[in-house]
Amino acid sequence: MAVETCALKIDNEPFEFEVTGQFSWGKPENLFKAEGNVISKVPWAKLGFGVVEAFKGKEFDALKQSVRDNILRAIQVNNITVDPESFQLEDYHKIVNTDEGHLGVIDITRNLTNEDFDFDIELLVQRFGEILGYQLTSWVEELQKTHIQIRINRPSSLDINPPHKDGYLSYWEDIINVWIPIAGCNEHTSLPVAPGSHLIAEDEIYRTESKGATINGNTYYVPCILKTKSGNLDMIRPNPKEGEALIFSPFLIHGAAVNRSDQTRVSIELRFPRLTS
Ligand SMILES: [Fe+2]
Repeated sequence: MAVETCALKIDNEPFEFEVTGQFSWGKPENLFKAEGNVISKVPWAKLGFGVVEAFKGKEFDALKQSVRDNILRAIQVNNITVDPESFQLEDYHKIVNTDEGHLGVIDITRNLTNEDFDFDIELLVQRFGEILGYQLTSWVEELQKTHIQIRINRPSSLDINPPHKDGYLSYWEDIINVWIPIAGCNEHTSLPVAPGSHLIAEDEIYRTESKGATINGNTYYVPCILKTKSGNLDMIRPNPKEGEALIFSPFLIHGAAVNRSDQTRVSIELRFPRLTS
């Protein structure tokens, strides 16, 4: 196992971290299908991502409330003292102030389904389907469940997953990725993406295998992309506002969402497979 430094830029600011793993260049193939892919009908197909309206009226508040309820429950399950009345998501790191406690919480919040939310996820399935011009579903056939992940990212921590493409995992090959800001999301914390990177062929990508990258003692399901033939990754934060969502191709390189603020950042990730291709 080699220890490598993953150095990249986010909005022109350098960021680096250590990764342990076995790295290699990929095969001469492009996993992103040029035609008929889930973003083939939108004007931002070449960029690989778009920021879209996601919520109407009080919908966002309802979802945020439900995310808060889930996090509160996870904190309480871990026997961490919290006042349910005054708890603010942005202050999570002050309540859950050990790595051990945090790992206990995210063990629950990383693996939720539609039933855990007091919010109609099908509304979003319908809405994003209309934007993309393809019928979507929240049911992931290969996993035999729906999938919702709450991401909790503490200030100045390594609560990040490595730069990666979700599409390397077979069950995320034909989905739309959805990233929704919930709390503490801004230009210093929001999810970075590498514009146009879904078009990069695999033999121009230097990465680990899936489940082959360890950062700060955590091994991730997704591989770590260290660099491309053109050099280190150059990423940007599209920074969707409250009520909006960042939606993107499963082959777009994203991750390394370092939190450069003094508040906890909370977001949710949804993945909606296509019903028919
Ligand atoms: Fe991802």
